[in-house]
Amino acid sequence: MKKILNIAVASATTLMIIGCSDTYDSDEKTYTSQTAKSMGSLQREVGYLTDATDEMSLYTFDKDTLFPTTTNCDADCQKIWPIFTGSNTENTDIMVFDTNTSHLAYRQHPMYFFKNDTTIGDVNGDNIKGVWHLIYAPTGTNDTQTKFSSAANSMTQTYLTGKDGMALYTFDKDGDDESICYGIPDAKPLGSCEARWPVYYSADLSGLPAGTTASDFATIDRNLTKALKDDNGDVLATKQTTYKGQPLYYWFKDAKAGDTTGDWVGGVWHLIELSAQKTSTITPSPYTQEAAAAGKAIFTDPAKCSSCHGADGQTKPLGVDNIIAKYGDAALIEQKLRDMRDNGNPNNRNSAMVNVASGLSDTAITNLSAFVATLKK
Ligand code: HEC
Repeated sequence: MKKILNIAVASATTLMIIGCSDTYDSDEKTYTSQTAKSMGSLQREVGYLTDATDEMSLYTFDKDTLFPTTTNCDADCQKIWPIFTGSNTENTDIMVFDTNTSHLAYRQHPMYFFKNDTTIGDVNGDNIKGVWHLIYAPTGTNDTQTKFSSAANSMTQTYLTGKDGMALYTFDKDGDDESICYGIPDAKPLGSCEARWPVYYSADLSGLPAGTTASDFATIDRNLTKALKDDNGDVLATKQTTYKGQPLYYWFKDAKAGDTTGDWVGGVWHLIELSAQKTSTITPSPYTQEAAAAGKAIFTDPAKCSSCHGADGQTKPLGVDNIIAKYGDAALIEQKLRDMRDNGNPNNRNSAMVNVASGLSDTAITNLSAFVATLKK
């Protein structure tokens, strides 16, 4: 277990008990839990904003300016990224920021189409040059001019988390390697920025999630004069971890791994996306926990497998100097069983084993492979 600033998490929990009634729903479903390390990643299945008429994907541009909202996509750029225009409605999330062009912004971020998107569900503009992004707005923020993509066109996004899968966020108002989110109480009912966005810091960043490298992360010193203090007057966070120069935070309303309720708060707080792809293009692995459980039931039926291989796969079957627990790779084990059953036993294996394999169904092979893969020590 890696060290982490538990105190910051504790303060977030305390605030949560004190409570705040407004909810921040997000249209998502989390299904992969990965790690209990100081850093990790999770996936969520999520919809994105489209225009209401043609249901074409909308994008934001990282190089645009906020406060005041300004587009930095010039006439040539707009040939590739046509602006999304409309009028002000009752929804304050979606507003015209330039009355000359009627260009619409979502929470201060100008919105664009991508010229190579031609049908509903096209997301060809996402992550182009790392600066154009789909808008994973929380549900309820669309209006008569916008619509959420349908479930059939959802995206699976992998995002950065801290300890135990709690989502991490960046703040658009921070400078490079500098946080402006501090403990000075402001007028908001929940108190200071730092209380709502507990600072993330970990001295040990081993076991980084796929898609990141150690050089993406650095540590900055917090301003101790401005920092939030506990009841004893001790500063809660003296250091903060940054990702690509952006200080990292938790969000106090996230209660458990998989919550991402801080994404898009105020238009300036964002999850850190590590990758995203259309959910429909992802082939789920057949080697699930359920499959392994079903495989175990077959395996440990003494007449089937464990009589020769042992209940934990550690026994060498008679005449063989090999154990099946050593592989730990379900696809490889499945290939071996299929070779014996379907492919003419190319490795000329013991006939007792081949007889067993020839009686297995496709499902049994998949489930057994999922289970045998768990036996590696
Ligand atoms: C009668 C004893 C016996 C039973 C029952 C048996 N096996 Fe085997 N198994 C063997 C022997 C012997 C080998 C080695 C075959 C060879 O390489 O000639 C083997 C090999 C294997 C291999 C390949 C291992 C490798 O190193 O390539 C797998 C996988 C395997 N068994 C899985 C199973 C599963 C799953 C079951 C139950 C459905 C099962 N076995 C039941 C005796 C048995």
